[in-house]
Amino acid sequence: MKLFVHHTPELTPVEQLPDCAVVIDVLRATTTIATALDAGADSVQAFSDINRLMQASEAWLPEKRLRAGERGGEKVEGCDLGNSPLNFTAEIVTNKRLFMTTTNGTRALERVAQSPTVITAAQVNCQAAVNYLLEKKPATVWLVGSGWQGGYAIEDTACAGAIALSLLEQGSLSLEAITGNDEVVGAIALYSQWKNNLVEMFRLADHGQRLLRLGCNDDLKYCAETSILDVLPIQKEPGILVKL
Ligand code: MLT
Repeated sequence: MKLFVHHTPELTPVEQLPDCAVVIDVLRATTTIATALDAGADSVQAFSDINRLMQASEAWLPEKRLRAGERGGEKVEGCDLGNSPLNFTAEIVTNKRLFMTTTNGTRALERVAQSPTVITAAQVNCQAAVNYLLEKKPATVWLVGSGWQGGYAIEDTACAGAIALSLLEQGSLSLEAITGNDEVVGAIALYSQWKNNLVEMFRLADHGQRLLRLGCNDDLKYCAETSILDVLPIQKEPGILVKL
């Protein structure tokens, strides 16, 4: 298994695809996806474009759908929910399809949607992603961060590092054997430095600060919890994720 870390959708190569893409948006899209599917949502359909989301969701019965929209950290007008994972409770999401658009995470999903396998990971379900990779052993794995509007997001790279480090430790693999690009070594070093203090890292992060300004302190704490959910979102057709 060779791992490659790509910090943002824009830095992700366009001319090839991996055997397995792992999309990461710790603050907060992939944390929310894991939380919603764990809470009993039927599926999540991701859109980078709000108009396409509105059109596609019209075809579903109102009682079977939820529209979740976020831009700049805030809820999009006309949607049922924003992107705070804490709002995706069993009471709200059970048996519903979530039609979701976010500033960066859904764009990252779209970027790798044609890969043979697409899964999503965040700190909250990190171990589930590691278990899947150790079991399936895809030859090439891209850990794709969502970043922020084309820029680097430290929390996504730290999560990529957490996955890479766990693969090394639990799969008895050598760093040399799994490293596909320099970013993998950097991601492991980053996670190793912050793993006992992820909330503090999130508070320093550009998007963490944006969320704090919006009063989302509890979201930061929740997004920093490691492997509290045993759920693996997997793409069943382009743009549609279900619980494995
Ligand atoms: C995104 O896709 O950029 C995010 O998940 C933003 C957020 O809602 O925190």
